[in-house]
Amino acid sequence: MTTPRKSALPPGPKRNWLPRFGIVQVKDALEQLAQERQKYGDIVCLPMNHGPTWLLSHPDHAQYVLADKASNYPSMVGENPDPLLGRGLFVSNGDFWRRQRRMVQPSFHRPRLARMVEGMVRDAQQHAERWAPQAATGARLELLEQMRRLVITMLGNSIFSEDARANRASLREGMDTLGHLLHGPPRTLLDVVKGLLGQHRAQMKRFFNAIEQVNTDMYRLIAERRQSPAGRDDMMTMLMDARDTQGAAMTDTELRDELVNLFIGGYESTSVALTWILYEVARNPEVEQRARGELATVLGGQPLTAESLQSLPYTRAVVEEALRIHPPAWTFMRRALNEDEIDGYTVAPGTKMLISPYLLHRHPSFWTEPERFLPERFLPEQKEVRHRYAYLPFGAGQRQCVANGYTVTLLTVALATLLQRCQWRLVPEHPVVAWAATTRRPRHGVLATLHAAPQVA
Ligand code: HEM
Repeated sequence: MTTPRKSALPPGPKRNWLPRFGIVQVKDALEQLAQERQKYGDIVCLPMNHGPTWLLSHPDHAQYVLADKASNYPSMVGENPDPLLGRGLFVSNGDFWRRQRRMVQPSFHRPRLARMVEGMVRDAQQHAERWAPQAATGARLELLEQMRRLVITMLGNSIFSEDARANRASLREGMDTLGHLLHGPPRTLLDVVKGLLGQHRAQMKRFFNAIEQVNTDMYRLIAERRQSPAGRDDMMTMLMDARDTQGAAMTDTELRDELVNLFIGGYESTSVALTWILYEVARNPEVEQRARGELATVLGGQPLTAESLQSLPYTRAVVEEALRIHPPAWTFMRRALNEDEIDGYTVAPGTKMLISPYLLHRHPSFWTEPERFLPERFLPEQKEVRHRYAYLPFGAGQRQCVANGYTVTLLTVALATLLQRCQWRLVPEHPVVAWAATTRRPRHGVLATLHAAPQVA
């Protein structure tokens, strides 16, 4: 950042990027970004329709924009009103965001996470038990769909002590509909034609109906809780008990917004992450064997506890490596407020900064053999030497994922508990194709056969 001024703009493609990145996704957006990065280097200027956008792929630049000079690069969320997320954490800014973040953050403090482990283990065990008939016959299952079911149960229990899948059918349906509309398959030419023929309006109607359904359920839940608080140890209780610096509690609308943000923020990305984890374990038999060995030594067939979770560095490393190679949040944006300079290039006010964890996680100067799945790189002794901003599955700086510790705990518990009970094998004729939609997910899911866990000697 101290190099002499080079020229006004960083290098980049001359033609407009939108046709290849916008309405019709003919090609994976990430593949295109990776190509531009390879061609032009760590800072690329992408001439997009809505103004210049810089693709930053060096950890120093990520650190500069997300942390060191974060005040000049606020998040772009909240620039338009959001019918689904309201004024929740994801989409608020400024003083209101700060107030809400202070009230939500304690729900994820370490001692609380430890208390959640038992419930997470129970949810994963029950899920694995439901798989028993399939495991007995080696039946096929689509893993993304299965992980969605497990994650909604785990999230529901953490957030409001209820299995949203089993007990709150309409909330689950609403979430599923929203999930499908928000994170569903990419738009094809056919979708655009359908849109022109009026189907877009029908989709919007479904979207708003689903929001209404979710709102009805959320407000009902809030009313039930306000009537009988019942002293539960869940996030909803924490949020209801939280007070801002003036001593004020959240209103029903603020509570609804934060609950929806936690649910929406967590549901898709965590389901996708867990699917990629299971996929990599199945693809790498030596990794699976080592993880099973660790679980057998540490747990000896007993259920995981908050304490024994601390003694599973390799299992946790599998989770962290899967988040490196398949970061569900593959990109996020910031926008420059004032003129600035990065690496000798002048940043005009309004310039958008695109930071892609996917590209950072593969930067050849910071990762050896970046395309290989090597959990060892996340064992404690190796972590220390890494550039802190070369690994950003949960973002960084003040807008970093509020639930990062919770999520890594959830994923490690789920992986350990599922491995204790079963084994899954990929179906070779089913291609697993990564696709960067709102999250980077397997476009056609992951098909696997299910089996009972092997005995570890
Ligand atoms: C593997 C799973 C997850 C990934 C990859 C992920 C990733 C991220 C990232 C990258 C951000 C920051 C975006 C930015 O800086 O612009 C973020 C923010 C956020 N995440 Fe997560 N997340 C995950 C799970 C969760 C879960 C389980 C929850 C809730 C229980 C959650 C709730 C949130 C919220 C509320 C924010 C907004 C924070 C703020 O702006 O103050 N996330 N997440």
